[in-house]
Amino acid sequence: MIDHLRSAVELSRRPHRGLEKLHERFGSVCTLGVWPLRYVFLLGPEANRFVFANSRLFRWREAFEVLVPVGGETALIVSDGADHERRRRLVAPAFARQHVDGYMQMVRATADAAIDSWRPGQVLDLYGELRRVIRRSTIEVLFGSRLAADEPDLGRALQLVLAVIDQPPVRQQVQRLGLPSWRRALAARAAVERRVRAEIDHRRRNPDPDAADVLTLLLGSHDDGSGLTDVEIVDQVISLIAAGYDTTSAAMGWAMYAVLADPEVAERASTGPSGPGWTYLDGVVSETLRLYPPAVVGARHVVEEFGFAGTRVPAGSLLLYSPFVTHRLPELWAQPLRFDPQRWDPGRPGYRRPGPHEFLPFGGGPHRCIGAAFATAEMTVLLERLLARTSLQLQSHDPQPVGLAAMRPRHGPLARVLDVT
Ligand code: HEM
Repeated sequence: MIDHLRSAVELSRRPHRGLEKLHERFGSVCTLGVWPLRYVFLLGPEANRFVFANSRLFRWREAFEVLVPVGGETALIVSDGADHERRRRLVAPAFARQHVDGYMQMVRATADAAIDSWRPGQVLDLYGELRRVIRRSTIEVLFGSRLAADEPDLGRALQLVLAVIDQPPVRQQVQRLGLPSWRRALAARAAVERRVRAEIDHRRRNPDPDAADVLTLLLGSHDDGSGLTDVEIVDQVISLIAAGYDTTSAAMGWAMYAVLADPEVAERASTGPSGPGWTYLDGVVSETLRLYPPAVVGARHVVEEFGFAGTRVPAGSLLLYSPFVTHRLPELWAQPLRFDPQRWDPGRPGYRRPGPHEFLPFGGGPHRCIGAAFATAEMTVLLERLLARTSLQLQSHDPQPVGLAAMRPRHGPLARVLDVT
């Protein structure tokens, strides 16, 4: 009992560490709390395999309730069954590999514009800087340049909403009773919604036969009568923007920290060959997502009782699985805490491609991250531009992970600009 209490306190203070301790103490399955707040932790590769293979036991709506204030009631992550299938089918084509490659030109241009504005001597919060770049290019490639021109306003508003969901569940419940932060967040969500609706109206009044972005796709689905309602379209737009930048910028904060903290990694990442086939930079991206997966945990609401590793898990429980714990297990990864991009080199002796239940930064099953290829390509392009054009000196040492919605490095990382070309 004391062990369970201690675990609960650790989890609310430092979720990533709390989860590791839970695994050390109880192994692959552990239950905390009692109905109606019963949490079941399924940890490690076999647990992930089970979770991903048994989606019929789960629902997402209740599991990701906390994201409703941002993405709305019809966002993919809170959709289930036929609704989820229909919405996902309509959105998915925009994230196919051939489109993603095209989007990267815009990401490169946005990154270059930001780098152009940096001056030697300046100290930058890299997470904050890259967050703006990522937000802007995500809006631009998915929803067009008119909406992207309002990125600063949209960004300010979205930050207010993301801040309220980046809190432990109990504090969120208190906020919902009507604290000013909650009211501000609702007003900010409504403002973003008005702007998106204005864009939808504009597109309908001025159809452009050549436009091929996600908004065109979503609107097209509406026209043929079988598609999305306006509320669904608005929710997809807002949830894709938020999901697209919150996690990717957290990952970029860690990637830049890892690269700048180790001169050898920085050197190899900037001089290594790039192009088709495996590159060292690909290794940097995979290694960042392994050691610092922004989604520390994933959730499922259990709708049908099941047994796992001798434990009965009743319907109504909230199941949590953890990429973070899995990615640091010594039985899966040699020297798990070492940032070693070369462990991903398929030509390395003894290389073994990790399975989807062993490396899972983007989750798994029917709700696996729709933007996985987009995020990976975007991180690679951003790193490539930063390494090619800047010389940066790290000012943050050993940054602590913070954030519940997306684990990011606290305060930055901060870096001094030594040179920009
Ligand atoms: C490093 C960056 C990213 C990480 C770590 C990440 C991680 C995740 C995870 C863990 C899930 C839930 C999967 C599950 O529960 O099984 C998810 C879902 C999702 N992600 Fe990402 N994501 C990233 C970037 C993106 C980007 C760039 C976009 C879009 C532009 C995006 C859009 C979504 C959407 C829409 C879902 C819900 C899919 C569904 O419910 O069908 N994500 N992501």
